[in-house]
Amino acid sequence: MTKNKFYITTPIYYVNDTPHIGHAYTTILADVLARFHRAMGDDVFFLTGLDEHGQKVQQAAEKRGLTAQAHCDDLAPRFSGLWERLGISNDDFIRTTQPRHVKVVQAILEAVYAKGDIYQKEYEGLYSVAEERFITEKEAESGQFREVKKIQEKNWFFKMSAYQDRLVRYIEENPGFIRPEHRKNEMLGFLRQPLGDLCISRPKSRLNWGIEIPFDRDYVTYVWFDALINYITAPGYLSDEAKFRRWWPVSVHLIGKDILTTHCVYWTTMLFALDLPLPATIFAHGWWLTGESKMSKSAGNVVDPLDIASQYGVDALRYYLMAEMVLGADSNFTPENFIKRYNSDLANDFGNLLNRVSGLIGKYFDGIVPAPLEPSADDQLIMAQGRALGGLVSGLLKEYKVDAAINAIMNLVRAVNKYMEVQAPWKLAKTDLPAAGRVLYTATEALRLAAALLGAVIPEKSAEALDVLGARGTGFEWGGLRSGTRLAVHPPLFPRIEIVPVNVVPKA
Ligand code: MSP
Repeated sequence: MTKNKFYITTPIYYVNDTPHIGHAYTTILADVLARFHRAMGDDVFFLTGLDEHGQKVQQAAEKRGLTAQAHCDDLAPRFSGLWERLGISNDDFIRTTQPRHVKVVQAILEAVYAKGDIYQKEYEGLYSVAEERFITEKEAESGQFREVKKIQEKNWFFKMSAYQDRLVRYIEENPGFIRPEHRKNEMLGFLRQPLGDLCISRPKSRLNWGIEIPFDRDYVTYVWFDALINYITAPGYLSDEAKFRRWWPVSVHLIGKDILTTHCVYWTTMLFALDLPLPATIFAHGWWLTGESKMSKSAGNVVDPLDIASQYGVDALRYYLMAEMVLGADSNFTPENFIKRYNSDLANDFGNLLNRVSGLIGKYFDGIVPAPLEPSADDQLIMAQGRALGGLVSGLLKEYKVDAAINAIMNLVRAVNKYMEVQAPWKLAKTDLPAAGRVLYTATEALRLAAALLGAVIPEKSAEALDVLGARGTGFEWGGLRSGTRLAVHPPLFPRIEIVPVNVVPKA
């Protein structure tokens, strides 16, 4: 039987600064989906990387007194190193300065030019230096674009307008293509205006940090035309036909809502010009905010993911980002929220349950998992919830509802905590030891299942919990816990964070 394929990408990040929580979010989200698909037996290709050309990078390098390439080479390990630290399981890491990519971009430019879809004209327009693109009058009036100036020059253009009707039809005929739904409507709204052609060159007199246009050496390629192509370079376009056929079209491009138009309009029309199929899905998530504003380097309000990870652990960070943000909406990052969720979900609900069951099995069953026996009506309720959970989580993740999937898993954990309170196996043990064993088996099995299903989100802690239960690799079905297994001794999975109260006036 051939496995299902799942090809997932993150945006390739600009190497103009060190990554922050916003970048970490998209990458962790992609990692969670990649890990889950692998666990379900799918064949996964997970791509991330760096966008190294263009004005922003050139300016950042100049500021540091470095050549652009030296600047990129210096910063690239900060990204790959962070991804390693955060447990990111990407299969490839592309940098747009790599020869494999430069070659493909130039070959594509040649091909689209030969086809007649690239032409030269004199152009005068408004250009946003911050966004690195020409903008319309209307966009300029919106006040959302910074560093806008008028530019007049001869440039090369891609005939994007020729594909407008086809794109609109495609979006309308493929309901799952742009997600969530309101982003699809936003794009259809945008496409109601006539679409201009895309300026895809920059004269070297203005910018030389880019891929040279092969048929006109006075120009380099516009950074977005170059960057989007990374998604096909990595799976082997024009270099490894079999590999490319295996992976393209991509299952999902995960992006932030800030780069919706470049992906849904520029990229798709480029793919039309290349006669390549479009992505199955483009999914845009919301922003992490600090207070009211988007977390970004230019706003000077970034949170460093490494700080959080070194203080509270990688999995605590991964869990928080995934559980807190309702996919598609914006979220506020505050240390208070982080600590609150950590203590309630990870320390109290999940971590404590492991302590409790392993403590009780230690005390009453010499640390050996007891037999399940005949389930009571209450056991059966937990079992039914547990049996339905794998399918529920898988369905939610296929809809990219990671926060809801986590909540469904935590609902089982919470139900088991309640069940423990009601059943009180510590009391039962004194009158009916086998019944106490039955309760503890049910609770521990539910915990095993929750730990296994959380594996994609908190890989290290999930493995630690499963090791305590002697249940690594036992899958998502009810009944994976084996009676007779000796539980391992372990420190608390998620020690409570004690909040130091501020502004407390000491008593005299
Ligand atoms: N280089 C382009 C993307 C090219 S893809 C072919 C780019 N890079 S970026 O470094 O600015 O990163 C943009 C992406 O980082 C966003 O789309 C989003 O995925 C993530 N985020 C950056 N800041 C963010 C927040 N404050 N909140 C959530 N994610 C955001 O654009």
